[in-house]
Amino acid sequence: MSAVLIKDVKEEFIKTFKEQPLLVFSPGRINIIGEHVDYNGGFVFPAAVDKGIAAAIQKSDSGSCTAIALDLDSTIEFDLDKLKPSKEGSWENYVFGVVAEIQNRNKVVGDFNIIFKGNIPGGAGMSSSAALENSVVFGLNELFDLGLTKTEMILISQKAEHNYVGVNCGIMDQYASMFGIENNALLLDCRTIEAKPYEIDFKDHQLILINTNVKHSLSDSAYNDRRSACESIAKLLNIETLREATEADLEKIIDKVTPENYQKALFVIQEIARTQKAAKAIEDNDLEKLGALIYGSHNGLQHQYKVSCSELDFLVDQAKKNKSVLGARMMGGGFGGCTINLIARDEVKAFAESASKAYKNKFDKECSVYFIELAEGTHIVQ
Ligand code: GLA
Repeated sequence: MSAVLIKDVKEEFIKTFKEQPLLVFSPGRINIIGEHVDYNGGFVFPAAVDKGIAAAIQKSDSGSCTAIALDLDSTIEFDLDKLKPSKEGSWENYVFGVVAEIQNRNKVVGDFNIIFKGNIPGGAGMSSSAALENSVVFGLNELFDLGLTKTEMILISQKAEHNYVGVNCGIMDQYASMFGIENNALLLDCRTIEAKPYEIDFKDHQLILINTNVKHSLSDSAYNDRRSACESIAKLLNIETLREATEADLEKIIDKVTPENYQKALFVIQEIARTQKAAKAIEDNDLEKLGALIYGSHNGLQHQYKVSCSELDFLVDQAKKNKSVLGARMMGGGFGGCTINLIARDEVKAFAESASKAYKNKFDKECSVYFIELAEGTHIVQ
């Protein structure tokens, strides 16, 4: 599938700029469990997938830079010495942000042209943004010999998101997209930014995604609010992040926080524990256990952390009614996007059909079912 994207950006690049480009593929990600804990220094369990963004990039001698988003049929021209955030929500902020953050590290980027095309729908909770950022930083690093390590590159991508896009995201998405390993998920410790790969072979079960095809507004501000709430509680507890807290610690400051924020911090502590238990369940091949933890994660995201929405809850309820689904939950930042489902292979088709039908009846719109393979991280395509 990515081969088609690569071919398209390459052909378009040669047609537009009359030159051979460098080709980069940067994947999106799933997350098995560990939601909203990356910015709390916790454990997450993502994997890069076989869907993402293809970029064709090359130096430019025209005296300025051009970036083209083929999917959006949108072209921008810009100068490297005049970078500033563009209007909120516009795709060029990902490009400007990455370039500006590279410059902030005193690395010199020359003029360049870049063309993108992707196959992850925006707002699906599969990190098309991280895929885009990583494709830019990876391409520029190669083209201008910047000597950046992969870890430096993902920190640049993350800063671009903070300072140009306005989302104070954690490191999970950029990490998974950059460091993905074929057929593996990564148990990532967000405190040290080090991961342990787990080969994922669920035998007669598999992971599928169902996209609600909704993205509720305010999700960015709600995200940033959650993050500051967590940070203020960590401060009250005199610790760096909630990763260092136990439920007992939290109990001691119960009078100093609102009941809502108490539940949010409690969720974070419990979700970090669930993620570690999920890793153990995978080691033990205990899919029932893994499924129960995944349902537990959704329950917390819905009722304690409050980042779900009726469409996501509905799809998880459909899963719960079906014995062949061992676990389901919302995935990513929330307020829309996909659910991830752990389901018996034989029953995938029947469940996908019944859930889609029920969804259509309830919301009068379509959901989309995605099949994914766990794939390699951001890389140059020869
Ligand atoms: C978004 C952010 C990530 C992470 C998830 C929630 O995808 O970019 O850093 O916080 O939400 O787990």
